[in-house]
Amino acid sequence: QHLQAAARAHTNIALIKYWGKKDQNLILPMNSSLSLTLDKFYTDTFVEYLPNLHGDIFFLNGKQKVDPKIKIFMNLIRQVTGLNVYAQIKSTNHVPTAAGLASSASAYAALSLAATAAAGKIYSKTELSRIARRGSGSATRSVFGNFVEWVAGNDDQSSYARPVKIMNDWDIRMVAIVVDSRPKKISSRSGMQTVVETSPFYHSWVKTANEDLKNIKKALKNGSFETFGTIAESNALKMHALNLSASPHFNYFEPQSLVAMNAVEDMRTQGVQCYYTMDAGPNVKVICKNKDLDVILEQLHRYFPSDHLFVAAPGPGVELLNN
Ligand code: DP6
Repeated sequence: QHLQAAARAHTNIALIKYWGKKDQNLILPMNSSLSLTLDKFYTDTFVEYLPNLHGDIFFLNGKQKVDPKIKIFMNLIRQVTGLNVYAQIKSTNHVPTAAGLASSASAYAALSLAATAAAGKIYSKTELSRIARRGSGSATRSVFGNFVEWVAGNDDQSSYARPVKIMNDWDIRMVAIVVDSRPKKISSRSGMQTVVETSPFYHSWVKTANEDLKNIKKALKNGSFETFGTIAESNALKMHALNLSASPHFNYFEPQSLVAMNAVEDMRTQGVQCYYTMDAGPNVKVICKNKDLDVILEQLHRYFPSDHLFVAAPGPGVELLNN
């Protein structure tokens, strides 16, 4: 037995957001969420258990990093697999240079598969999603490809991801507009916690997020792209409204984020079907159909240089790599 394995996981962008935990240790979300896994941005992770190590060693893009979250996560992996050996972990983020889109989602999804497989354990994708969840909530969804739902659940067993069947031929694309690649001001972990504890609107968020999820799944099955995009955009803005209503309040907007949002809304008034979403950072992601991509890129080029625009299509779930 070699005690080594490598895995690749793609990042995902939520269309119905996860923004708040009801259990911070198990990472159980307040509401279910829905995302699209992307083909362009991914993390490759190689794990090797070495009996002579006195602690886990982690390299990111060739540089050694000390990350307490990785240590806690590897302790969980040892607990789950029963293999009590430290590991050398080597991760590479494949994100276009300076895109600022590297995420904990692809990182923990790839690490979950690589670290369990290296320990000689094979888990179902459902089980893997529950393991990935303990590293970072959004990683739960990167275990699967295309459209994915993270069922909130109410304990470790019942909080997992599952694929969402779609019945349309939208041939969807996502254009990531890179506004700023600086590290984010407030981590999602602490931002969402501040919101849960202080936003007077939090209760309405949970209530309407559940309705948004139900309706967006309906739209994916047999509804219009317009309904789908409208729900996604409004859900994202509600999440950002929570941040504005927290105390202390905070936001992820940069001036260029608003330029991007307005450009998308302007295109819509000209009849182009496109919608945006935004996460815990200033970059804006535009959702559209492949057939409208050229027109949309041409418009966006008026405000953003082409090396700040990255087009992605739906991508696959986590998979083992032959090393
Ligand atoms: C805005 O998964 O990064 O991207 O669970 O604390 O690690 P932790 O948070 P994280 O939060 C993601 C927040 C979001 C929305 C989403 O992906 O659903």
